[in-house]
Amino acid sequence: MELLDKIREHKARTGVIGLGYVGLPLAIEFAHAGFHTVGIDVDQRKVDAVNAGTSYIVDTTSEEVASLVATGRLRATSDFSVIEELDTINICVPTPLRKTKDPDMTYIVAAVTEIKKYLRAEQLVILESTTYPGTTEEVVLPALEEGGLKVGRDFFLAFSPERIDPGNKQFQTRNIPKVVGGVTAHCTQVAKALYEQSIETVVPVSSTRVAEMVKLLENTFRSVNIGLVNELALMSAKLGINVWEVIEAAATKPFGFMPFYPGPGLGGHCIPIDPFYLGWKAKMNGFEPRFIELAGQVNEAMPKFVVDKVTDALNNDGKPVRNSRIHVLGVTYKRNVNDTRESPALHVMKMLLDRGARLSYSDPYVPEIHEDGMELKGVAVRDALEAGTDCVVLLTDHGQFNYSEIVHRAPLIVDTRNALRDFIGGNIVRL
Ligand SMILES: NC(=O)c1ccc[n+]([C@@H]2O[C@H](COP(=O)([O-])OP(=O)(O)OC[C@H]3O[C@@H](n4cnc5c(N)ncnc54)[C@H](O)[C@@H]3O)[C@@H](O)[C@H]2O)c1
Repeated sequence: MELLDKIREHKARTGVIGLGYVGLPLAIEFAHAGFHTVGIDVDQRKVDAVNAGTSYIVDTTSEEVASLVATGRLRATSDFSVIEELDTINICVPTPLRKTKDPDMTYIVAAVTEIKKYLRAEQLVILESTTYPGTTEEVVLPALEEGGLKVGRDFFLAFSPERIDPGNKQFQTRNIPKVVGGVTAHCTQVAKALYEQSIETVVPVSSTRVAEMVKLLENTFRSVNIGLVNELALMSAKLGINVWEVIEAAATKPFGFMPFYPGPGLGGHCIPIDPFYLGWKAKMNGFEPRFIELAGQVNEAMPKFVVDKVTDALNNDGKPVRNSRIHVLGVTYKRNVNDTRESPALHVMKMLLDRGARLSYSDPYVPEIHEDGMELKGVAVRDALEAGTDCVVLLTDHGQFNYSEIVHRAPLIVDTRNALRDFIGGNIVRL
């Protein structure tokens, strides 16, 4: 039976390499659609968790994983030889930056090296990891063709950017339109057919490069607009204007404006990183990407701006940062998720510690922090307030925090998220 027919009849065996924020929800969607799905991960803890019916991803429940595992449609392994039995393989491994801000392709290369060992005719490989334009055809394709199989004839290769937004209750893997571009038209057709079985809208594009660039446009768009609004926040602070009020009023314009909000800096695995993948590739081709660089500079300066705000606010109360009791609210990179990757809160905290603050924090999603030399255990907000604090710094506006209690009891609050928009008080300092 041809691969296309196997897919359409849900007889294809699907596989997902990398069971993280992207890969696990995707594997679940394939399993829901009726495919026998195998997740492959090098992290044995994740493999064991999936097989035990436990979820470690905020938008996926353990019940969902457990019920799919119980039906036999979902399982996980760290043994790559299973690839031989698979008909489709989606690669969802990390694509971080090196310290030099160059792309770190080691995870993609490692995954492709494993696929290459087991690749056979009539298999479909789709790269989903965010990466620079050209990766699929310049890095993945040559490796897969080394064994003599030919793309478009023997096996199929495509790129499809992942657009998941952790914590978003309205849009999840199933109802976020999926862009897909294959190396050949037939590759696109097969990949499109796979996604159509489990995702509501599939948007085919003409090439892998276009599909790769789509993701980078989306994330660069966010990074640049957040950079712009962060700069407006800095400007407004100088001019004595409440930038939040400006944005809310501007957002009443029914066309031609989209609100973005300032904050303590960019976080997560996408917005602070992906534009640099594009910037790197542009530079390699002799093009200087000015917007990406500028937005990066403005956004990366925000944690320091927050620390200066805290310093000034304490100074107004006649206190130095050194030995002041500073309590941080929220350390994840955005509200209501459990992900601290690239979180600006960690940078702010590190700078405050380096200045001698007596630091504590509360975050319902993060019981402990062991990072960048910091060893901290979270405490309940009420306990911190009872023990006495000189300043509360609100860095991530989780829905669980009791803001009225905090405003009522804290002597000083620096609010970097406008979470206290409905409160009036001389103790509130806004970004
Ligand atoms: N998290 C998001 O919101 C998001 C959104 C869109 C796109 N992306 C992109 O999707 C990709 C994956 O991101 P993520 O957030 O799911 O990352 P993640 O770190 O949550 O998950 C990646 C998983 O891959 C595993 N892994 C690493 N190397 C492997 C290998 N060689 N073989 C098998 N497994 C391996 C890791 O153990 C981990 O479980 C990245 O390129 C990221 O930029 C992420």
